[in-house]
Amino acid sequence: MKREGVSVGQMKLSVVGVGQMKLSVVGVVGQMNREGVSVGQMKLSVVGVAGQMNREGVELLDGNVWGEDNQNLLPTTSYQPGQNLPLVCRPWRLWHRATRFIIGSRKASWRRYILLAAFVVIIIILYLLIESSPRSIMSLVRNHPPESVFRCGGDGGGKVRGPTGNATFHPHLPPPRSPENKLRDDPKVLVFTETQYSKTGKDIANILVANRINYKTEVLGRSLPGLTNLSRGKYGAVIFENFERYLQLDPWNRELLDKYLKDYSVGMMGFMPVREDTRVGTKLKGLPLYIHTNMALKNVSLNSDNPMLHLTRAGGTIVGPVLNSDWTTFTIEDPTYIPIEWAYPSLTDFSEERQNTVVLDQGQLDGIPRVLFGANLEFWLHRLLFLDALSYLSLGRIPLALDRYILVDIDDIFVARKGIRMTTDDVMALLESQRRLQEMVPGWRFNLGFSGKYYQRGYPEENDGDKMLLDHVEDFWWFGHMWGHTQPHELTQDELEIQMQLNKEFAIKHDIPTDSGYSIAPHHSGVYPVHEPLYTAWKKVWNVRVTSSEEYPHLYPARLRRGFIHRNIMVLPRLTCGLFTHTVFIDKYPGGRKVLDDSIHGGELFQSIVYNPISIYMTHLSNYGNDRLALYTFESVVKFVKCWTNLKLQTVPPLQLAEQYFHRFPDEADPIWGNPCADHRHMQIWAKEKSCDQLPKFLVIGPQKTGTTALYTFLAMHPAILANYPSPETFEEVQFFNGKNYYKGIDWYMKFFPVPANSSAKFLFEKSATYFEGDVVPRRVRALLPAAKLVITIISPSKRAYSWYHHMRAHSDHTALLYTFHQVITASDTAPRAVRSLRNKCLVPGMYARHIERWLNHFPSSQINIIDGEELRSDPVYVMNDLQRFLGIQPFYNYTEHLRFDKRKGFFCQVVGEDRTKCLGRGKGRIYPAMNESDVKYLKEFYQPYNIALEKLLTKLDYPVPSWLEENLQ
Ligand code: A3P
Repeated sequence: MKREGVSVGQMKLSVVGVGQMKLSVVGVVGQMNREGVSVGQMKLSVVGVAGQMNREGVELLDGNVWGEDNQNLLPTTSYQPGQNLPLVCRPWRLWHRATRFIIGSRKASWRRYILLAAFVVIIIILYLLIESSPRSIMSLVRNHPPESVFRCGGDGGGKVRGPTGNATFHPHLPPPRSPENKLRDDPKVLVFTETQYSKTGKDIANILVANRINYKTEVLGRSLPGLTNLSRGKYGAVIFENFERYLQLDPWNRELLDKYLKDYSVGMMGFMPVREDTRVGTKLKGLPLYIHTNMALKNVSLNSDNPMLHLTRAGGTIVGPVLNSDWTTFTIEDPTYIPIEWAYPSLTDFSEERQNTVVLDQGQLDGIPRVLFGANLEFWLHRLLFLDALSYLSLGRIPLALDRYILVDIDDIFVARKGIRMTTDDVMALLESQRRLQEMVPGWRFNLGFSGKYYQRGYPEENDGDKMLLDHVEDFWWFGHMWGHTQPHELTQDELEIQMQLNKEFAIKHDIPTDSGYSIAPHHSGVYPVHEPLYTAWKKVWNVRVTSSEEYPHLYPARLRRGFIHRNIMVLPRLTCGLFTHTVFIDKYPGGRKVLDDSIHGGELFQSIVYNPISIYMTHLSNYGNDRLALYTFESVVKFVKCWTNLKLQTVPPLQLAEQYFHRFPDEADPIWGNPCADHRHMQIWAKEKSCDQLPKFLVIGPQKTGTTALYTFLAMHPAILANYPSPETFEEVQFFNGKNYYKGIDWYMKFFPVPANSSAKFLFEKSATYFEGDVVPRRVRALLPAAKLVITIISPSKRAYSWYHHMRAHSDHTALLYTFHQVITASDTAPRAVRSLRNKCLVPGMYARHIERWLNHFPSSQINIIDGEELRSDPVYVMNDLQRFLGIQPFYNYTEHLRFDKRKGFFCQVVGEDRTKCLGRGKGRIYPAMNESDVKYLKEFYQPYNIALEKLLTKLDYPVPSWLEENLQ
């Protein structure tokens, strides 16, 4: 019985011919296939002419099926007690009939009876054996789990053979160049691509994103992009997706680019394009290199003796043909060029000589170091060399750290159906594997999540496995999962607390440590999108400080997964290693074993370790039983990493891991709340009662003192429009997207709007005039409300500044009362902090063009409406009509009937009766002395560049230029 061969499910044990007996054990393990055995699915059937007997109940059919011979055996006349009962309820009769049917004679010999009884006993024993111990039976028909046989430099699973030269680590020495001109502190990578969609260009971008390296892509046109900013170099390395484009640059651009590269000590990387023609020994223009194209190659290895290798280690020879047969190889004519990678022709009619496939020009001939690739990034080794090349060419200014932290979670150590859980052998194997991994990765420990409810829910051997895990409680790290496997977003806080408490009690009872500070949620539910009760319960019951999720900001693409901190709980991005609950057997791996092996040997899993300084992987109980795929996977990939890289692997507990993460990526601490409705997975793990209809459709974003309250009031008068509920702290403004409220999360924000079922208004909106100038606000709004329309009001920036100053005085601001307007707006950077702060609040929002441009980086102009605040003041009906059209609001509201000029107030006010109006409060439309002439002049000059830019911008966006702007520019 070979592995793929006969499963017990195919076993059909039949005894046919004792009389008319046909007794079959059909599908005893009918469901017992290599995916596991479920007793619930087991059927023991005695199928015969007489009918069907199965575990769920036995039913023998009376009637014709007996055949003529048996007719006279049936009681036909008088009533018999129990006659109408099914046969199963009359065991003796059943037996009698069965034996007679089988034996075929009234006078059956006692031998036949014994034979039959023995047979039935065998069947029952067999059944009980399978029922009670299917795992042991399965192990008879199963092969051994796969083992990691990869040997660095050996002929193992990774097909890597003996290193060429010694594979020692060479310190990463940049070439001796002394940059006179400076690069900016965090230089980007400039990538010249063929088109927006070209394959290698995309691969380059993906690797840069995955490694969190800033870059800019340019499709090469007539002119180069600006390379410097205020005489500081913007780019730390330049990449040509097609190196031939560099060689073909027109002399002017070539000179410009080469000068930049030399002046700023920046190097260049280039990829040789795939050519349709075969060139043999063609000279590369201006370089001491000859190329051969369309090469089919095999047996790739690295030259360990070169200064570029830092992350990459010359691990050996990759035996066999390379991907594709369109590589370009280089013949070097100058000793300052060094081969980095080489391979052998795979066609026998070609020269047997070793061919250079990646070369390093150390820049000693023309001052520009270059790394040239003879093939693209599909080949995994080139991805490693790519990172080394970037670091080398930028003189380390694009840094490449070697520390890597890895932690493997076993998502839920007691949750799996019978048959795919761990036996004691599996637990032993886990301990053994952990010991071997510890030798390669200091600190390695598996991190076990548990749901106590599922403890001891397997077959007897599996229950022994559970017990054994607890006997070894100290050998692992532990974290509490949920008690059941319920999704937190479906539970209230009380329910969550009860669940967590139950699990905690289980932990205490079994001496499982409860202080890891880590937890995860089934299906990531409640972590992101955030379900606040989960965070509250976690803190309260388990004092959770770290969790992990694959869902932030989205599951795919995986390279974009990031972390964030919410309410002091650090959320780490969780990576997938390719093992899921259903990946139990190696030969059933989706797509075949090769898919998993490729991922380990240079593919996705390997790359995830290379690209991410901190990796937390999720695995499942089922990956540790049966074929123990997790042990195979992690031992193999660790060996591969150690063979081909100089990365320093280590494992630390989750809390330390998270601290490392946010120490390394402090910018990620702040979350960016996305729109759950834009991601169907997020919708599945978002509480049912929540809806994106409880979010605003448009925002009035300011700036302050431009008439935003009047606009807000007029909008709220509209029957189809509904403003947010007031905030106790900030009154009519929610002020969510700027400042600290943002950290309260979207549940908090949504509470300012009615639940859709309770509101007939179609257009929810909010006005927060502080949004306009906030640096991070456009990005945040875009993430949560990508379809929102935005309304901006602007008045003369000088007038706005003056209005703000008086607003602060009216609010008894100490600084505003102490300093004159002139002193405030002319304050230097050495002035007291409070004065500088007031100065900025007066002046910065009025730099309109700068702020509007920032919003335009995140929203199309079609979603933005700019209102002249002076027009709003003098002709609000016109403005409101225009705004209704922009917002697409129905029904159209006739403001003429609802707004009236109030002479006493000097402004338009809401009509509330025949001769009554309701005006804005005293804080709006204040009376204060006119601005000094000198201040008018000062501000006119101060704002001039911004006003010029504003005029250009308004014209570009097709707005009329307001009269106050024209005046200011005169
Ligand atoms: P002043 O109080 O300096 O005159 P905001 O609401 O954005 O803070 O703007 C306040 C400004 O709105 C007021 O500034 C006022 O000039 C202007 N405004 C425009 N229309 C108004 C109206 N109908 N009622 C009151 N103020 C109005």
